[in-house]
Amino acid sequence: MQTIDILVATTSGNTEYLADQLSTQLQEAGYSTTLHYEPDYSDLMESLTEQSVWLCCVASHGAGEYADSMLNFAEELHTHKPQLSGLRYGVIAVGDSCYDTFCAAGRDCDAMLAILGAKRLITHLEIDMSQDDPDEKSSTWLHSFIQLL
Ligand SMILES: Cc1cc2nc3c(=O)[nH]c(=O)nc-3n(C[C@H](O)[C@H](O)[C@H](O)COP(=O)(O)O)c2cc1C
Repeated sequence: MQTIDILVATTSGNTEYLADQLSTQLQEAGYSTTLHYEPDYSDLMESLTEQSVWLCCVASHGAGEYADSMLNFAEELHTHKPQLSGLRYGVIAVGDSCYDTFCAAGRDCDAMLAILGAKRLITHLEIDMSQDDPDEKSSTWLHSFIQLL
């Protein structure tokens, strides 16, 4: 069974909740999931295979920084710049349009993984917490993501 690693960048829990919902939907669609609430760079690098798929759910905080739970992972990724050519991925960027740096961390994650050679399965999704229904928007996007796996 294909396993999807779900990487979560959250500070106040909204994105963790969203990731839990998506995990359940993926399981209902027949996939196995592993939730990484505080993604560990070494663990994820060691477990990479040609079949690996990452679903990154990334909230922005600070001035467009990654939310707390993924700060270390993002720093390691930028520092070590690993070759990720076997990896396939999708990114859900969570933010609020009242910030100039709307969804900046999710956008960075999406760009960074592509630069490192990973295959973007689908255009990243941006969720505006002040405008959107996160469950509805992410479910629709996830449906397309699943079709591309
Ligand atoms: C202190 C603070 C800084 C934030 N900075 C940004 C930002 O730079 N860009 C953005 O799009 N959203 C920003 N947000 C909005 C958060 O991304 C949004 O509230 C999101 O739901 C937080 O997700 P989380 O609960 O998973 O941490 C910020 C929120 C707070 C409280």
